[in-house]
Amino acid sequence: MLTQETIDLIKSTVPVLEVHGKEITTTFYQMMFDNHPELLNIFNHANQREGKQPTALANAVYAAAAHIDHLEDILPVVKQIGHKHRALNILPEHYPIVGENLLAAIQKVLGDAATPAILDAWAQAYSVIADAFIGVEAEMYREAEAAPGGWRGFRSFVVDRKIKESAVITSFYLKPQDGGAISEYLPGQYITVRVKPDDQNYTHIRHYSLSAAPGGDCYRISVKREGSVEGKSEGVVSTYLHDRINEGDILEISAPAGSFTLDMEKTMPLVLISGGVGLTPMVSMLETVLKEQPERKVTFIHAAVNGEVHAMKEHIKQLDASHPQLKSYVCYEKPAAGDVCDKTGFIDLSWLRETASLESDFYFCGPLPFMRAVHQALNDWGVPAERIHYEFFGPADTL
Ligand SMILES: Cc1cc2nc3c(=O)[nH]c(=O)nc-3n(C[C@H](O)[C@H](O)[C@H](O)COP(=O)(O)OP(=O)(O)OC[C@H]3O[C@@H](n4cnc5c(N)ncnc54)[C@H](O)[C@@H]3O)c2cc1C
Ligand code: HEM
Repeated sequence: MLTQETIDLIKSTVPVLEVHGKEITTTFYQMMFDNHPELLNIFNHANQREGKQPTALANAVYAAAAHIDHLEDILPVVKQIGHKHRALNILPEHYPIVGENLLAAIQKVLGDAATPAILDAWAQAYSVIADAFIGVEAEMYREAEAAPGGWRGFRSFVVDRKIKESAVITSFYLKPQDGGAISEYLPGQYITVRVKPDDQNYTHIRHYSLSAAPGGDCYRISVKREGSVEGKSEGVVSTYLHDRINEGDILEISAPAGSFTLDMEKTMPLVLISGGVGLTPMVSMLETVLKEQPERKVTFIHAAVNGEVHAMKEHIKQLDASHPQLKSYVCYEKPAAGDVCDKTGFIDLSWLRETASLESDFYFCGPLPFMRAVHQALNDWGVPAERIHYEFFGPADTL
């Protein structure tokens, strides 16, 4: 139990740490990887480089510290992070490593301002926060293992089929190598792939949304080859999957996770909006809702650069043709010669108003600028926050 004095000290120093937030977490990661290079097998190196992960962790620690005497208020956030941690196989023994290095980084960055009393209060706060995460994650590990067809940690899957969906997106159909059952998932959830390419010193772990409705005998993920069109440097895992992983090869997978899921308690119209590879959870949701809630009106809006990189075009067209409750729209940023679409350029509010009803439940996913634009449009339209749901294909960010 924390004393009131400790709680007050923590709360009063949160703003001080927030000012130095990025510096502290960047220092923390440098120290932690120097002391524990084996953790480079778990952390995404690109997210470290871009500072996304240090920022996400800093924000989470400060948010938790600000709620230290009523952590239950931030339980949904703890659960969302817990899903990612469970999928990455983060274990209780990892927590003291983070704690020690975080404290050392606070001390280093704040210098004399970090009095022994402050450091002691933060050590206690970290321990309370870590226990909350460990508890939530322990339950998630239990659930993932106890589910029919479930498992703990990573399990080997065989690539049953590899299907090209567009110039940049390829689907992988995965079946357990042990021939056993697979656990169910909710539309919108992801599985997590761990690979060790020969030319890499460490294992690399990435999340991929399941791109088909649950209920089949395999998992399907659809992966964009990162860096293939924009002239950016190539992504480690997506490039490896595209170029080196073929039918018959083995991938290590952790059980489905994630709290971005379709709410089928609701019956109001559903609007699914995706940009680029952000269509993967939307296709899973679409297939599910058409099957499970045939009365429900659905609008499916997909934005892509052009027809060449537009994945699952025929599949959605066929669903549209065979389901009167579904209306699907395509928006191309820069259509190529011969491309047919409903809108060119970017999705905007005036076009959204024409295609969807305000009284809907909205889900979206795509690149960050796309998500910011869609979120802004929905806010401007007056859609209440509880009807706006989204997933980031990277560390959670602000929109
Ligand atoms: C919940 C969730 C669901 C997801 N679902 C999907 C999905 O369904 N399909 C999908 O394709 N992806 C999905 N992702 C994204 C996926 O997890 C990976 O992030 C993605 O495949 C890129 O991984 P990578 O290893 O190929 O790239 P990384 O090596 O992680 O690189 C990431 C980015 O940084 C750039 N980069 C790499 N090196 C450098 C450098 N030196 N300097 C500057 N930039 C660099 C790369 O070009 C790339 O764009 C999802 C992510 C999350 C969190
Ligand atoms: C109380 C302590 C912790 C907090 C508050 C915390 C918070 C976070 C947050 C906010 C994210 C980003 C989630 C997202 O993607 O949206 C994250 C991801 C992650 N966390 Fe933690 N975390 C904690 C402990 C740990 C520990 C002990 C480890 C393992 C050593 C760990 C490893 C990771 C990894 C590997 C990711 C994914 C990062 C990436 O690869 O980009 N975390 N954590």
